[in-house]
Amino acid sequence: MSGAPPDGSRPGGASVLDDLRELGRRDPGDMLGEVAGAGGQARVALRAAQAAPLVGPLPEVVVVAGMGGSGIAGDVLAALAFGVSSVPVLAVKGDRLPAFVGPGTLLLAVSYSGNTAETLTAVEQGLAAGARLVAVTSGGALAELAQSRGAPLVAVEGGRMPRAALWSLVVPVCSAAEAVGVLPPLTDEVCAAADALDEEAAALGPAVETAANPAKQAALRLLDRLPVVWGSGPIGAVAASRFRTQCNENAKVSVVSGPLPEANHNDVMGLEGGLGPGRELVLLRDEVGEHDRDGRRIQAVLKAIGAGDPVVRTAGKGPGLARLARLTAFADFASTYLGIGRGVDPTPIRTLDQVKAALATESGAPR
Ligand code: PA5
Repeated sequence: MSGAPPDGSRPGGASVLDDLRELGRRDPGDMLGEVAGAGGQARVALRAAQAAPLVGPLPEVVVVAGMGGSGIAGDVLAALAFGVSSVPVLAVKGDRLPAFVGPGTLLLAVSYSGNTAETLTAVEQGLAAGARLVAVTSGGALAELAQSRGAPLVAVEGGRMPRAALWSLVVPVCSAAEAVGVLPPLTDEVCAAADALDEEAAALGPAVETAANPAKQAALRLLDRLPVVWGSGPIGAVAASRFRTQCNENAKVSVVSGPLPEANHNDVMGLEGGLGPGRELVLLRDEVGEHDRDGRRIQAVLKAIGAGDPVVRTAGKGPGLARLARLTAFADFASTYLGIGRGVDPTPIRTLDQVKAALATESGAPR
């Protein structure tokens, strides 16, 4: 990444990102520590999922209901299922479920807090339609509802921000799909993902200086720019979305993101005059999941918009969850460094909290 500014003088420059005391001061909620612990989190989640009574018949369809930092677990499952599942897998983000939901549906409800209004409303609809419910949550109303209905519940560790609990949520959601035959046996894949997360933490963590740390370099390139993030293959597409939402919440910035090759058919027009000084392109490539022609497509679009030196991160080899782990670790570290570089505390999400509080007051519900 030759475009990384070796800029120690700017407020968010390398001097800040390489000063461990300053990092600690600017990250009082220890989001960097949370990101670094993702591998351990995945292993704990695997044990929790294995202890839950998830086995059941092959459903006609799997629907994953969840929002935000929880809902992305549905995107992950859909991406993993894409090449292997004989039944459709759909991630739903909102209050309503599709009309086809019925007794043949496996409804995976995922909410870290267990109190998200949209998810709870969707669950009520799914139960009324006769869907089989599995809940993944750290508690709240969702846990109570699952228990009262005798539905399987994977109780995940609480106390984190939902987006910092990605692997606590992804592993049980995927395990629930494995237990009904939608995904093949998963244990080795989760272990490979956990190892990949540990390796990425060692390569991208705070102790690794900017000169050798691609996540810090990416954060410096994104300072004061609009990130345009494209991901290839089903897994790269999920990672691009994660990069966007992590930049939104950890760095409090807007981001444009999209999947390739779809972005070649629309997004590219917004870059017709080139990236200019205000934008930076990030490519998250899962080459294993790409079509044979995607490499050429990517070269063609880079040439067309004159983007000679985008930020590029590749997912490497191995099973899907391990490849996803490498890309999400990059997204999680880079977005947290970006927040720290911008001088914002990565952890709190005040505006989001404010919106939820306003809606809870309006409805009188504690959601
Ligand atoms: O990242 C976040 O905090 C949000 O996107 C939440 O995940 C979202 O609001 C849903 O809440 P929960 O994950 O508790 O269901």
